Amino acid sequence: MPDRPRIAHVGIAVPDLEAAAAFYRDVLGVEPHSRDEADGAAIVSLPFGDSEVELLAPLKTDSPIAKFLAKRGPGIHHICYRVPDLDAAIRACRAGGYRLVDEVPRAGAGGRRIVFVHPKATAGILLELTD
Ligand code: CO
Repeated sequence: MPDRPRIAHVGIAVPDLEAAAAFYRDVLGVEPHSRDEADGAAIVSLPFGDSEVELLAPLKTDSPIAKFLAKRGPGIHHICYRVPDLDAAIRACRAGGYRLVDEVPRAGAGGRRIVFVHPKATAGILLELTD
C-alpha cells in the first residue's frame, strides 16, 4: 500500500482494442500485460512504470463504455488514483460533498476495491479510487 496517492491507471475508451494497442506496440514498444473484463468492457492493460494505461472497448451496446463512446467519442474515460486508505477517502468524499457513483466499494479489474467519484465533482473527469 503506498503512503501517498499514486496514479494507478488512465482508462482510455476505444472502439477497437487491437487498433488502439498497435500504437503502443509499434511506436512505444509497450506490450499489453493483461487482458480483463469489467462493466461490459474488454480491458487491455499497458505497463508504464508504476502506472498503467487501460484501453477499454465495449463488449455490449448498453455498457458504460459504449455509452461514453456514443456520446463523446474515443478519449480519456477516467483516471484511477491509488490511495493509502480507501475507506478514509470515501469518508472524505462524503464529508466534502463529492458525489460518489458507488456508495460502497466494489470489485474492479484485478479484484481490487474501487469506487468512482462523479465527474461533476471533479472537473469533468470521472475518477476511480482504489486501494
Ligand atoms: Co479503471
